[in-house]
Amino acid sequence: MSGPRDWDAATYDRVADPMTRWGATVLDRLPLAGDETVLDAGCGSGRVTERLARLLPHGRVIALDGSAAMLDEARIRLAPFGPRVEYLLADLRRPLPIAEPVDAILSTATFHWLPDHSALFGNLAMVLRPGGRLVAQCGGAGNIASVVAILATLGDGWTGPWTFATPAETRARLEAAGFADIDTWLKPEPTPLEPGPPLEDFLRTVILGDHLARLPAAEREPFVRAVASRLPRPEIDYVRLNINARRAAYSRGPREPARSSR
Ligand SMILES: C[S@@+](CC[C@H](N)C(=O)[O-])C[C@H]1O[C@@H](n2cnc3c(N)ncnc32)[C@H](O)[C@@H]1O
Repeated sequence: MSGPRDWDAATYDRVADPMTRWGATVLDRLPLAGDETVLDAGCGSGRVTERLARLLPHGRVIALDGSAAMLDEARIRLAPFGPRVEYLLADLRRPLPIAEPVDAILSTATFHWLPDHSALFGNLAMVLRPGGRLVAQCGGAGNIASVVAILATLGDGWTGPWTFATPAETRARLEAAGFADIDTWLKPEPTPLEPGPPLEDFLRTVILGDHLARLPAAEREPFVRAVASRLPRPEIDYVRLNINARRAAYSRGPREPARSSR
């Protein structure tokens, strides 16, 4: 398995207003006393992480991402928090190199980039203390359907790397990974963008990175323009999958062997 790809982190930081706005609403669902250790799983350039760190004046944030460029950008933004933020370059598809269990996990706009949500939730459960909360949002069933339909008609027709799961699938996967008190739901978030360069910047940086990485350099900009010009309107039809859950207090971890009942 090759590592997660890198991102254009400076441009992402500039254009990620929708993700930051949604991230703030996800963070509102995480009750904090201020002294916890919280993992931000897929922190990106750190705009949502910054809001999280402000809520933890006596706590700690582990800012995890698979992109070194994103972590470099996050280091700049989060420098004022000093040692209260730890930076971790890690792959959410694998067991995470976190020794002490965290009190809670926040994740925004990340899970849909992962191919196997059962493995992902297992990896998260392993580093979350029993009773600790997982509060997350990512693309869900129906997310960016207009873009996906256009992608099916371009080049080799590859529609993308994404897992846009339903609330029911997600609940079942969370239960199997040892989570309880689960709530999962979809929320449409149609997002208008300025036509022309702003829309193209957004498509290039936020949505089409994996597609562009597969293309020769000379074909990348025509590909972005083709997607932008075929959208019915300068709007991305986002549908967000929300997750609230707790690691079950007394369940066995997803990877621990079942104990004999005798
Ligand atoms: C759209 S950004 C979201 C960043 C931030 N949470 C936000 O809401 O703005 C998605 C992030 O997921 C990260 N990511 C994707 N696949 C990953 C993986 N396998 N392991 C770790 N991070 C990954 C990317 O590097 C990227 O920073």
